[in-house]
Amino acid sequence: MKIAIGNDHAATDLKNEIMEYLTQKGHEVINFGTDTKESCHYPIYGEKVARAVAAGEADCGVLICGTGVGISIAANKVKGIRAAVCSEPVTARLVKEHNNANIIAFGARIVGAETARAIVDAYLSAEFAGGRHQSRIDMISALEK
Ligand code: RB5
Repeated sequence: MKIAIGNDHAATDLKNEIMEYLTQKGHEVINFGTDTKESCHYPIYGEKVARAVAAGEADCGVLICGTGVGISIAANKVKGIRAAVCSEPVTARLVKEHNNANIIAFGARIVGAETARAIVDAYLSAEFAGGRHQSRIDMISALEK
């Protein structure tokens, strides 16, 4: 898969670990995040990943900041984006199955590397269930109009 990844200064180390993990698994990872630990503004990176996913330049996105919250709020302002914060793998699977989340987010100050790897694995191996869930996503999309 083609995966867009983005992060702020709070998540540079975890971003690097997850990039390496995904690359080893055969994914193509496009890095939109900061590569330093110098204080920066997470909306910049949330927007970059969201725009790449919304434009179809990436199949999905991974966003990491301190909590995963600020960067996902920013991403969710871009039309067509459903970014979901997950701190464990069950939610990561369900946000794909039920919400067809096209971006997963988590916090480098909340989860360690092992949990982060389990989160991306659960998300990437899940499939959208469709059916009644599609109607609910259609309702969310209607809010963007
Ligand atoms: C940066 O200090 C921090 O506010 C940011 O990484 C994130 O947690 C915001 O939601």
